[in-house]
This record gives sequence, structure tokens and C-alpha cells, in this order.
Amino acid sequence: MAAALEITGLHAWYGESHILHDVNLTVNQGEVVTLLGRNGAGRTTTLRALMGLTGARKGSIKINGVEAIGLPTHRVAHLGVGYCPEERGIFSSLSTEENLMLPPQLAGPDKGMSVAEIYEMFPNLLERRHSQGTRLSGGEQQMLAVARILRTGARLLLLDEISEGLAPVIVQGLARMITTLKSKGYTIVMVEQNFRFAAPLADRFYVMEHGQIVETFAASELSAKMPVLTELLGV
Ligand SMILES: Nc1ncnc2c1ncn2[C@@H]1O[C@H](COP(=O)(O)OP(=O)(O)OP(=O)(O)O)[C@@H](O)[C@H]1O
Ligand SMILES: [Mg+2]
Repeated sequence: MAAALEITGLHAWYGESHILHDVNLTVNQGEVVTLLGRNGAGRTTTLRALMGLTGARKGSIKINGVEAIGLPTHRVAHLGVGYCPEERGIFSSLSTEENLMLPPQLAGPDKGMSVAEIYEMFPNLLERRHSQGTRLSGGEQQMLAVARILRTGARLLLLDEISEGLAPVIVQGLARMITTLKSKGYTIVMVEQNFRFAAPLADRFYVMEHGQIVETFAASELSAKMPVLTELLGV
């Protein structure tokens, strides 16, 4: 079976700025992979380049074996990719349920979660289904942003800093969510600053610095890698 995601020799630019330099990253089906790095390392740019949201790109991005480097964003999404950006993108004038129903379901073999399944997984959202986007707490907005891509049928989830700025009890809820999604067979790429959140969830880790991957290791190597991580991330 092809890897869910196979990035090879990826370069990306914003205008004249050459941001990503020869990024190589593979995520197998059903894996949870965390992309770590300091501020400005290029983690968000990696996700954006994958979605066709940067300037020029060079290299190869295979999604389930299909080359996606030349594709516009909506075509990448149709390969089964759900992108949850750092800024979440919840529409303040729409209700929870309207936000949830906004993205179209993808055509293809993978049916998205039904609204009933989503409310079962996120009972808070059921309670808040008629509340306006702006009235939701940060944690509720984050859950809604993830729930919204689950409804589309995407099986490869790109999650950018979902734990950022949230209270520890909410972050624990997000950790349970990731564990549930993994058990349902989703493939997940998490960009994280919060090492303590990511560490127990990830099967494998990549560390970026200056637009390059500088370290990669499996969960089983985590304790041996702690000195290097401390140096690279200050964790
Ligand atoms: N739209 C843009 N135009 C030009 N340069 C950008 C743009 N967005 C990011 N950059 C630059 O690209 C580099 C990588 O930024 P990126 O957002 O990928 O970092 P990051 O690892 O996600 O870190 P963080 O989210 O903590 O800022 C940084 O030097 C940043 O200044
Ligand atoms: Mg970022």
C-alpha cells in the first residue's frame, strides 16, 4: 500500500523568499506523526506547501501514491486531505452547525463522519449547535475546526498547533480526540510547539530547523533523543 503522504525533495517559496529546503517526510497509513520545531522553523509552510498555499514549489508530494505537487488546493483536498490551519477559520456569523456543514463532502470511497457521529464524539458541539461561532470558547472552536474536516471524508488530517493557547483540561480532551481518530484509522500530521501534548500521541517525530528536517525518530527512540530535542527545541 502506498504511504498516505510521501514528500521528497520539497522546496517552497513565498515570493522571493526560499523557505523550505529539500524537505523529506513520509507518513504511513494510520500513523500519527508530529512535526516539531522552534518558531519560524517552517512547519506551517510545510503544511501550506502540501496544500498548494505557498508560492512556487519544487519536488514531489505524493498523497496515497498520487503526485500532488502541481495541483491547486481544492484538488489536493479531493485526494482526501483535511487541513486545519493555525487560525482555525471558524466563521463568526455562522452557528456551530452551519460551520460544520460548510465544506462539501468529498466524492470518493471514504464517507465522512455523519453529523450524528460528530456530535457523539464532540458532545460540547451538540450542546452549542445553535451558538454563533464567536460565542464558542477557544476549545470549542478548535474542536469544531477539526470536526468540520472529519465530515468531509478526509482521511489524512493536517493539524496545525491545535493545542495552542488552550487550557490544560481542553488539551487533554484534544489528546483523547487524537487517540480516538487514530483508533478509527485516520492518518494524522500534527504540527506542535507543545511537546508534552504531542509526545505521548505520536508514532514518529520530525524536527525542523531553518526550513529543513534535521531529526527524525520513532516513539521508541524518544527517551534516547531527549538530549538532542532539548538542544533543538529547548524542551
Ligand atoms: N506569507 C509569508 N511570506 C513570507 N515569509 C513567510 C510567510 N509566512 C511565513 N514566512 C516565513 O517563513 C518561515 C517559516 O515560517 P512558518 O510559518 O512555516 O514557521 P512555523 O514553523 O510554523 O513557526 P510558527 O508557527 O511558530 O511561527 C519564517 O521565516 C517566516 O517568517
Ligand atoms: Mg506555524
